[in-house]
Amino acid sequence: MKRFLAGVLIVVAACAAGFFAYAWKPAIDPVEPPPRTAFDQALIEKGAMLAAVGNCTACHTRPGEKSFAGGLAVPTPFGTIYSTNITPDPATGIGRWSEAAFSRAMREGVDREGNHLYPAFPYDHFTLVSDEDNSALYAYLMTRRPVESRRPANRLPFPLDVRLVLAGWKLLFFDKGVYRQDASQGAEWNRGAYLVEGLGHCGACHTPRNALGAELQSARLAGGEAEGWKAFALNGLSSAPIPWTRDSLFAYLRQGWHADHGVANGPMAEVTGNLGRLPDADIGAIATYLISQMGPPALERVARSAEIRKKLATDQGGTPIPVSAATGSPTSRGAVIYQAACAICHDGGRQQPFGGIDFHLSSTIAVPDPQNAINVVLYGLPAASGRQSPIMPGFAATLTDDQVADLLAFLREAYAQKPAWADAKAKVADTRDGKYLVSVRPSDGIERGPDNVGARD
Ligand code: HEC
Ligand code: HEC
Ligand code: HEC
Repeated sequence: MKRFLAGVLIVVAACAAGFFAYAWKPAIDPVEPPPRTAFDQALIEKGAMLAAVGNCTACHTRPGEKSFAGGLAVPTPFGTIYSTNITPDPATGIGRWSEAAFSRAMREGVDREGNHLYPAFPYDHFTLVSDEDNSALYAYLMTRRPVESRRPANRLPFPLDVRLVLAGWKLLFFDKGVYRQDASQGAEWNRGAYLVEGLGHCGACHTPRNALGAELQSARLAGGEAEGWKAFALNGLSSAPIPWTRDSLFAYLRQGWHADHGVANGPMAEVTGNLGRLPDADIGAIATYLISQMGPPALERVARSAEIRKKLATDQGGTPIPVSAATGSPTSRGAVIYQAACAICHDGGRQQPFGGIDFHLSSTIAVPDPQNAINVVLYGLPAASGRQSPIMPGFAATLTDDQVADLLAFLREAYAQKPAWADAKAKVADTRDGKYLVSVRPSDGIERGPDNVGARD
């Protein structure tokens, strides 16, 4: 028995030692902040483009504050993590980080001093980024204006506030390594996979997560969430009423909207806005990879989409009447509200992106969850300051929870031909109570009306 216990102890000690050897990361020596002249202008420009793909500003800049100075609260189900200052300020930013320290943060999620970083920083995707691309990102960040700014302390419960715990998380869920080409696919597909799975970190929003906050590798791009919004499925589970094609994906990602799908709203607006910096070839590669993840649509979706096209081609406007719309039913009450408050824009015949979308085409109405529809109905789509963008008023002050639920029941049945969302009313109430911390933003589609498709800036 004693022998057995001693054996167990030795195994436990060996495991602990092994874990600490795995978990312990050395500090990387600080360097003198490199001067601007240390970096080639072309490399800096490439870095600017890559930073846009990585959406670094979205998390590292507080609205209205200096770029990359950090301090933005990133809410997670476990608590609030504040982004860091990634300007080259020597005291409070990454001014004293060597390129090796920066690359290690991207590849392994470890800071210069050797602390593990929270995966709210999407290094589970950034690990795929190549050394050359990390060099360019480093050159870009190190030539920004230094800003002195310290982030507030994270608000996380014990033991999650102990960074060593993250080594355990990484052991379970983190797959370190640069992108490996898939030899069975062409160069364009591989480029798209590299951008989507790596720097673009599309899965950070579009893939569901497990209870410990890790993306479910068995359900990649099956639909996730971000900032109180649903990021719709981009795999075979896509609910888009007209199935996506490579061309429509290209156009949506290039322009921020597509006539068959509407405008990028919520957190997706910033993504398409940022992708605007990428060359066409890269957007095309992303579209090629995504369409391969979606696979060919089921015959029934193809048939339904043909029906929708026919309806839109012959449509004289007017509100469709769902089957269940007996007098006094929720859908008939919803139809009345729709007529009064929504039809003027959504049945008005004005073209996308500035006219309201015809709901036959709307993924927002067709998806299994009402959250995005609720967000848009309550808070509307605010105007982008100084630029032209699709605008919609919010109805939080004019419609009650019951009225919003009736309206949504009508939209679901009349346009998506699906049953009303069962949990809509409770979700409307929770959304108003601030439970989902919904970010309210202008949509994309900016400066790219029907007459200047493809133009950016
Ligand atoms: C989804 C939000 C998000 C995005 C997008 C994001 N970051 Fe971060 N980043 C964070 C958070 C949060 C932290 C702090 C993590 C922590 O405290 O453990 C962080 C930390 C870092 C750090 C470590 C800095 C330090 O002082 O410890 C670096 C370097 C960094 N990010 C660079 C980038 C770059 C470069 C990009 C774009 C390619 C980027 N981040 C995009 C959220 C994000
Ligand atoms: C910060 C979170 C976030 C990131 C990162 C993100 N998305 Fe999205 N995406 C969303 C949200 C939210 C929506 C729903 C937008 C709406 O309601 O209009 C969306 C919608 C989409 C749609 C439309 C789907 C449909 O059926 O209507 C496509 C296509 C898409 N995203 C592609 C991408 C690609 C490609 C990337 C990576 C380059 C990406 N997204 C990264 C949040 C994100
Ligand atoms: C002043 C014009 C206007 C009014 C009134 C209006 N909308 Fe909108 N709505 C828009 C525009 C413009 C968009 C952006 C188009 C898009 O998202 O594709 C939009 C988008 C939406 C979306 C997102 C659709 C998607 O798939 O992206 C929903 C849901 C929505 N509106 C619901 C409503 C409802 C319900 C009402 C009535 C209570 C309403 N709207 C009233 C102009 C309007």
